[in-house]
Amino acid sequence: MTTTITITGAGGQIGYALLFRIAAGDLLGPDEKVRLRLLEIPQGLGAAEGAALELQDGAFGLLEHVEVTDDPAVGFDGCDLALLVGARPRGPGMERGDLLAANAGIFGPQGAAIAANASPDVRVTVVGNPANTNALIASASADGVPAERFTALTRLDENRARAQLAQTLAAPVDTIRRVPIWGNHSATQFPDVSHATVAGRPVTEALDAIVGDVPSWLTDTYIPRVAKRGAEIIAVRGSSSVASAANATLDHVRDWVHGTDDWTSAGVMSHGEYGVPAGLISSFPVLSVDGEWQIVEGLEVSDWARARIDASVAELIEERDAVRSLGLL
Ligand code: NAD
Ligand code: LMR
Repeated sequence: MTTTITITGAGGQIGYALLFRIAAGDLLGPDEKVRLRLLEIPQGLGAAEGAALELQDGAFGLLEHVEVTDDPAVGFDGCDLALLVGARPRGPGMERGDLLAANAGIFGPQGAAIAANASPDVRVTVVGNPANTNALIASASADGVPAERFTALTRLDENRARAQLAQTLAAPVDTIRRVPIWGNHSATQFPDVSHATVAGRPVTEALDAIVGDVPSWLTDTYIPRVAKRGAEIIAVRGSSSVASAANATLDHVRDWVHGTDDWTSAGVMSHGEYGVPAGLISSFPVLSVDGEWQIVEGLEVSDWARARIDASVAELIEERDAVRSLGLL
């Protein structure tokens, strides 16, 4: 079987980082053939066409076909996996929500083109910022496609959250588990260590011996470091994250398709879980079971955690109301 994967903004930075890893089998594994559709706007076609030439020169055995187009109907034709990356990145001093006016208009037409052209069980991952609200706009425009098929990338935040713990605890990152991100892919996000473990031991217990006052460290050091890591990358690198974003996109889609053996994080449609209003795309602790994301239910949420989740959800509501007032929802 061949999987058709559409990458919007394929001529951009993250697109370039994604294409070669997908062609090499890093997304679906060494046996799954892929067909790539590179969707761009006219100004980006040259870069996407150049990437397509390089893909050919990579002589990837799994890569059956590459098509470059600026027509969404062609770009999403028969698409099984849609990676909606194409959107403007923020620069220094901006918040991701500041991109709403520039980027929100992209996602309604793409949602409609997905509904009209993609395969019936299409899975959509929105990377372009502000990712949660853009995913909501795309979903609202995709008549007939279940809202569960539209997700926003918050896996990069989770990877950052685990990596920061690994560094502090001097532990291998793959021994750190259950660090979900709640809420928005923004500075209000809540990386939650209350259920996290390191080599099977509670992270909070391990931190106690190292950082002393754990609640203060979480509030003053850890949470801001994770939540503002995107801005830190922009400040140090001069432009926003690329390879780590592509890597997290692969993690998210691979887990969605192949399943998880433990919790991870994804921006998914709320049905009211944990008091998050239904109809918002919020990050939750999730499992992937039989090809579907399932929100992990029944977790204990402290008052302190509740306040943080509520603050991020309040921002999602503000973004939703802003795009409603722009007539995009
Ligand atoms: P980039 O500017 O390098 O590339 C964006 C590409 O999108 C450009 O080639 C542009 O021509 C194309 N594009 C614009 N409008 C389009 C449309 N309507 N259809 C198809 N293509 C279109 O930017 P980048 O560094 O690749 O970042 C892309 C987006 O991803 C940004 O919004 C950025 O903020 C976001 N991002 C999200 C995360 C996350 O974790 N969710 C992480 C990193 C970056
Ligand atoms: C990130 O988290 O690195 C991206 O969302 C880019 C940004 O604007 O921070």
